[in-house]
Amino acid sequence: MKKTANILVTGGAGFIGSHTVVLLIEQGFNPVIVDDFRNSEKRVLKGIEEITGQIPVVHEVDVVDKEAMHAIFQQYNFEGVIHFAAYKAVGESVQKPLMYYRNNLVSLMNCIELCEEFEVKNFVFSSSCTVYGEPDDILVNENTPIKPANSPYGQTKQVSEQILKDAIDSKNGLRVLCLRYFNPIGAHESSAIGELPIGVPNNLVPYVTQTAIGKLEQLTVFGDDYQTPDGSCIRDYIHVMDLAEAHIHGMKWLSRQKDDTYEILNAGTGVGVSVLEIIHTFEKVTGTALNWKIGPRREGDVSQIYADPKRAFDLLGWKTKRSIEESLKDAWNWEQKLANEK
Ligand code: UD1
Repeated sequence: MKKTANILVTGGAGFIGSHTVVLLIEQGFNPVIVDDFRNSEKRVLKGIEEITGQIPVVHEVDVVDKEAMHAIFQQYNFEGVIHFAAYKAVGESVQKPLMYYRNNLVSLMNCIELCEEFEVKNFVFSSSCTVYGEPDDILVNENTPIKPANSPYGQTKQVSEQILKDAIDSKNGLRVLCLRYFNPIGAHESSAIGELPIGVPNNLVPYVTQTAIGKLEQLTVFGDDYQTPDGSCIRDYIHVMDLAEAHIHGMKWLSRQKDDTYEILNAGTGVGVSVLEIIHTFEKVTGTALNWKIGPRREGDVSQIYADPKRAFDLLGWKTKRSIEESLKDAWNWEQKLANEK
């Protein structure tokens, strides 16, 4: 793959997308962002510029709009696609399943068909550990059997992986890498970009930082009666910059593979951290006391899950470098930066 290759980044203004765009630019690639800013903000573009010194190329387009996407594929000679654009709120997907199926599946099918038409080979897809459902083993590797998804959102990720697999089995000439993200947290170390949840956050770490800054009153720990050492749920929290690096490694790796390659890799740290450990570590590294209480379990939560990241290391030579302390500190610095802007 040419160092200066054009890479389409759908959802490139989102949380993981924007951090990946920064790395692509820093490595000399030409990322082309497609984002309709439904779940992201234009200020992200300024942040990317602040870090890289380059104004990112952006098309304000919905990936579901195939005609508009066709024009973009026509304009650029893409060497790869990183497809982030999707809805991701578990609870909302239960309320609005069709909206999730249409958005997440049609956008994916558009991208695949356009890659076929324009002979774009390398395709990295944002999948999620949610595809494992409630696994029998808590340390999951890519061969851990897939259980029924526990939300329409999870279902869209399972079906998306299957669509990609079927497309590859039909020998369509693509090379596909599905990265199953665990729990991405943190922010760029410069605090120029980070997570921008819309409304009250569902995810733990933005809830923690917004409580600490005083935007939210109190954090509720969803259950302390799980079969875990401290009773709270265990997850694998990965720094968003480590995750962004996985995409760059993945894209370079794909470009060296044969056509019709299909690979799935876990993107996690391999370390499980409980909700209570997140709280205590946050308080320790930031010196800020958090207002929290124990509450009932949240419906649909898996008690514990974390990644076996070995295959990703074996294939890509990629592993995470940043600690949970660093991740929480970066998330906190970002929250403080946002508060100072107001
Ligand atoms: C979920 C999805 C994941 C998706 C991600 C992004 C599943 C199994 N996981 O991750 O696929 O990519 O959302 O949206 O569907 N918690 C609290 N209090 C809070 C918020 C969270 O105690 O206010 C706890 C949760 O119970 C959980 C942990 O914190 O144990 C992490 O929760 P969250 O950040 O929402 O992520 P997941 O549910 O793991």
